[in-house]
Amino acid sequence: MGLTLKDIRNDERINCYMEMGDDNLAALGYTEHGKRHARLTAGIAAHILEELGYSEREQELGAIAGYLHDIGNVVNRVNHDVSSALLSEQILFSRGMAPGDIAIIIGAIGNHDEGEGFPVSPISAAIIIADKSDVHRSRVREKDRALFDIHDRVNYASEASRVHVDAKKKLISLEITIDTEMVSVMDYFEIFLDRMNMCRRAAKALGCNFTLTINEIRLL
Ligand SMILES: [Fe+2]
Ligand SMILES: [Fe+2]
Repeated sequence: MGLTLKDIRNDERINCYMEMGDDNLAALGYTEHGKRHARLTAGIAAHILEELGYSEREQELGAIAGYLHDIGNVVNRVNHDVSSALLSEQILFSRGMAPGDIAIIIGAIGNHDEGEGFPVSPISAAIIIADKSDVHRSRVREKDRALFDIHDRVNYASEASRVHVDAKKKLISLEITIDTEMVSVMDYFEIFLDRMNMCRRAAKALGCNFTLTINEIRLL
């Protein structure tokens, strides 16, 4: 039995880096990227892999990659995909993980961001979809709505988001409920276009199509 998500979540060094990384993003005015986002990304990635019939070990690796994907924010937001991967390599190696498993995880983490990322493996594809699907009101830190930026508005408007996997139909759907008093569906779509294109590529890497539904309107 190799390293599990539970071991990772109980690791003092990881907890410390994750918390301080999220503090750094708070200082920069970014939305929540801490343990809540990590837990959700881990859970959704594992769920996608499970539904599509990947092995338990692959699901666990997906969960670990999902949990650690933003840890590099403790270094800098810029290139955090690469710093997250390199930090994870050091930590996982020191915890005795097999190099082959580490390689899968750091390849996935290093490819999760919109800029340079590409779904290089099923685990990579799963964490891309899981990461991009986490839009929710609770991620907004700014209390004063007058000071909201577009990311705050889009997240604040999101009342629910859900990734649904239909293995038979080979379909991964992201279903979001937004408050259109806060943001219009088209504003929302504009902000998310790059991310959704990346999700579409990721779904394709998993042999699936990708659909995006906002307030029951199918946009992709
Ligand atoms: Fe990220
Ligand atoms: Fe993320």
